Amino acid sequence: MTETRLTIRRPDDWHLHLRDGDMLKSVLPSTSANFGRAIIMPNLVPPVVTSQDAEGYRDRILAAMPEGHDFTPLMTLYLTETTDADDLEQAAKSGLVTAVKLYPAGATTNSQSGVRDFDKVAGVLERMAEIGLPLLVHGEVTTPDVDIFDREAVFIETVLDPIRRKFPKLKVVMEHITTEEGVNYARSGGDNLGATITTHHLIINRNDLLVGGIKPHFYCLPVAKREKHRLALRAAATSGDARFFLGTDSAPHLDQNKLCECGCAGIFSALNTMSCLAHVFEEEGALDKLEAFASLNGPAFYGMAPNTTNVDLVKTDEKVVYPPNIPTPEGPVTLFNPGFDIFWKVENEK
Ligand code: DOR
Ligand code: ZN
Repeated sequence: MTETRLTIRRPDDWHLHLRDGDMLKSVLPSTSANFGRAIIMPNLVPPVVTSQDAEGYRDRILAAMPEGHDFTPLMTLYLTETTDADDLEQAAKSGLVTAVKLYPAGATTNSQSGVRDFDKVAGVLERMAEIGLPLLVHGEVTTPDVDIFDREAVFIETVLDPIRRKFPKLKVVMEHITTEEGVNYARSGGDNLGATITTHHLIINRNDLLVGGIKPHFYCLPVAKREKHRLALRAAATSGDARFFLGTDSAPHLDQNKLCECGCAGIFSALNTMSCLAHVFEEEGALDKLEAFASLNGPAFYGMAPNTTNVDLVKTDEKVVYPPNIPTPEGPVTLFNPGFDIFWKVENEK
């Protein structure tokens, strides 16, 4: 049997949804088994808005961690029009909070408390720029007259660029970019602009979502775009450019909430993400860039050291079989199906 082995620093996930309660307990091991750290999204119901909310949520995550797993949740606050800049500064300075998430109101799952009037958060953004706390941006406008496939490009032009011009020192991460425009804008920035890319947006385009019948398990936000955008994302992720790093946006929903008349947006990929990524990077002839994307560029942007332990990605002739879904007490959560056979698996350092 032939074997290819690639040793990389333990990866981190710079954009992850863990939810709460039973769902948290069910999905956390998929991440904590293979990743050192993850930026935890704050879009719970109700959202994680104050430092007190973040502390409680962090403790629930730590309590749900399987024995023997070495994983650090990096907490975020959900920016609202009434966010208290002093509370936020204190949470950042104590190390409790690593970043602040901006959801335009109505952009995605549980974003009703997000920002409608960007002038109302100017004071908070100013403070964040002063103390070096990154703003993580869900980059889609929500205006009903803007087509869903154009929402990212319009956001960059009408919201993101003005914010960056007004606060040039603000550190910004364009979360889960899905377009060539997103890639180009990220490339045009300096050290204080980064962009996360999900595993699934490197693999699926909008045809995969819609042709031959709708595939609810490929529905996420921002929605997958046309093929040229997927190719631009692949080029960015595999380039080694330090501005691009992994944020899986693994976002579990119960199957019953996806397979219905108004299905939720979100793809659960935490369990097989590293296997899928190794496949993608190998396809692109860029296995030597995988470590930068998954393990080095993210910490460098956030001003942190890379993880000190390694993982091995191992490829053999034998197919790696992942379960089609993971169970939760309320029902199954379907795992992302990349549409190709997987031969790469992750081996943790002994
Ligand atoms: O597909 C998505 N699911 N996109 C988001 O921005 C939110 C996420 C979720 O929370 O389910
Ligand atoms: Zn997300």
